[in-house]
Amino acid sequence: MTYKINSLEEYHQVYKQSVEKPEEFWKEQAETFEWIQPFSKVLNWDFEKPEVKWFEDGVLNITQNCLDRHVLTQGDQTAILWEPNDPNQKAQHYSYTQLLEAVCQCANGLKDRGIKKGDRVILYMPMVPALAVAVLACARIGAIHSVVFAGFSAQALCDRVDDAQASMIICSDVNHRGAKVIAVKEVVDRAMDLGCNSVETVLVYKNSTQEVNWSDDVDVWWHDIVEGQSKTCTAEPMNAEDMLFILYTSGSTGKPKGVVHTCGGYMVYTCYSFKNVFQYRPGDVYWCTADIGWITGHSYILYGPLLAGATTMMFEGVPSFPDAGRFWAICEKHKVNQFYTAPTAIRALMANGDAWPAKYDLSNLKVLGSVGEPINAEAWHWYDKHVGKGQAPIVDTWWQTETGGILISPLPGITDTKPTFASYPMPGVQAVLVDSDGNELTENNVEGLLCIKYPWPSMIRTTYGDHERCRNVYFSVFKGKYFTGDGARRDEDGRIRVIGRVDDVINVSGHRMGTAEVENAINEHPNVIESAVVGYPHAIKGQGIYAYIISAGMSLNEAFKKEIISTVVREIGPIAKPDKIQFVEGLPKTRSGKIMRRILRKIAAGDGENLGDISTLLNPEVVQSVKEGALV
Ligand code: PRX
Repeated sequence: MTYKINSLEEYHQVYKQSVEKPEEFWKEQAETFEWIQPFSKVLNWDFEKPEVKWFEDGVLNITQNCLDRHVLTQGDQTAILWEPNDPNQKAQHYSYTQLLEAVCQCANGLKDRGIKKGDRVILYMPMVPALAVAVLACARIGAIHSVVFAGFSAQALCDRVDDAQASMIICSDVNHRGAKVIAVKEVVDRAMDLGCNSVETVLVYKNSTQEVNWSDDVDVWWHDIVEGQSKTCTAEPMNAEDMLFILYTSGSTGKPKGVVHTCGGYMVYTCYSFKNVFQYRPGDVYWCTADIGWITGHSYILYGPLLAGATTMMFEGVPSFPDAGRFWAICEKHKVNQFYTAPTAIRALMANGDAWPAKYDLSNLKVLGSVGEPINAEAWHWYDKHVGKGQAPIVDTWWQTETGGILISPLPGITDTKPTFASYPMPGVQAVLVDSDGNELTENNVEGLLCIKYPWPSMIRTTYGDHERCRNVYFSVFKGKYFTGDGARRDEDGRIRVIGRVDDVINVSGHRMGTAEVENAINEHPNVIESAVVGYPHAIKGQGIYAYIISAGMSLNEAFKKEIISTVVREIGPIAKPDKIQFVEGLPKTRSGKIMRRILRKIAAGDGENLGDISTLLNPEVVQSVKEGALV
């Protein structure tokens, strides 16, 4: 439901009601959907365990709400508008009817290969309509999808397949990204060699005319099992708390964890937030530039917009191909009304100059969105002036893989916007700031740690296969609260500005990366004794990756650096490549042997003169040499 809120005052009233009577608030939202069996209970929760159940006795299928429901009233309307990588190739329109039929065919194909409710299916695909079809086909039959961003390496893919114990991988033969053709099936073949013992079928979508290696035991062509299937497939009745998907994301320790989202709450919240944050109106064309491999693509390319009956665009390519005007050319060509991207893209496009957006007609833009990392004031103003022409409010949306949907954001045309502020919590979201002891900071004009103290429907339910990890990371730091890992400020009027992570997670070009994960990858190089990775301010990426490395006797030259980089690319993927590598003789440590990252972060940021007291270190003498060798 889009709220009839017209002013900040009305926002405050609605917010107050949502907090005073949360169950009523969410019941009203949930009743706007089609339930196979209506729910009688709204919420059951205990953050200690944690256990959160929304609409728990309700039965539904999210694809019925995304597709069948709209086919009845607007079957010919474009559901997915696909813009290919190659600007000379034609865009494609999939109406709601066509999309439903394609999803059913794929769902029937998956069933023929033995996929059933509860099975895990990994998708490792380019941004082509078949990816959307495959995701929804899984949801149609109750299989749990886990999309892995196609830039991850074979090792990273294998880790995720093994963790999820997936029985199928769906991939393409190749991916097109800008001028590059990426042999994706080869990556999958390598992942299969590394492990993936649970996989029975690799389903390959033909995206080119290239030959690929083939193993008759497991490989199956998409067109062989999908095309020719019946265009109807009964939607599997799902309990509201049945798993919908797993999405892997990095944390401050260990391997990436599988964030679990469930059917009912995720459906209610993504639709609610999409409608309110983007103020979508029938006939609008909405475009989110994310990849479906990340949560933004799940919630705001696929589920949120489709649940709302919107026309959602999917773009296969990159912002720089064939030139730096591509985003704006697409906005002009498809008369885009809502445009949602990441600060890193804005900064990169800003660096190419004002002439690019000026060349195109951007007058249809009504709302501009930002997501994934803090947006700096300069980028905010450039976006506002050169893209929105001062006419399109910017929604700086704060959220996380774990939150499933946008929790803090301006409501365009309703609440005001302020550069660098994600502004107000959505009605229904009880966001609070706490001090390091967990005391709630109730006054304004404060800085603290961002927590949510009451459940919202699309919140994380568990980390796949390791509930204890979920409890430890999110629910045990501050009793009775979900801890986001972010630090934030609240201004004198109650607007929130999210400053960034307070843990060992860094945000590189809007991609979340655990420093420990990158260190583990670097340490795979046989000549690395120890490493420490920190983030440092980077003009385009937001944060860059700075690696301090103690080597075992290798000559400290460019060749060694290249080897380290290729080790990281092999272990994780190109997105985790260190930007700077400094060889050091020692790393500053506490007396208990823990690396003092605070010091390393300061040195990497060029602030090595203000390290504070280092006398309690185990080895204060290394600090000087680390400072002297710093790459700043
Ligand atoms: O630090 C916050 C930052 O991105 C983190 C979540 O990353 P991920 O799970 O990959 O999801 C990204 C897309 C939702 C957060 O903990 N972040 C996200 N949006 C913002 C942000 N930081 C500041 N402002 C934002 N608007």
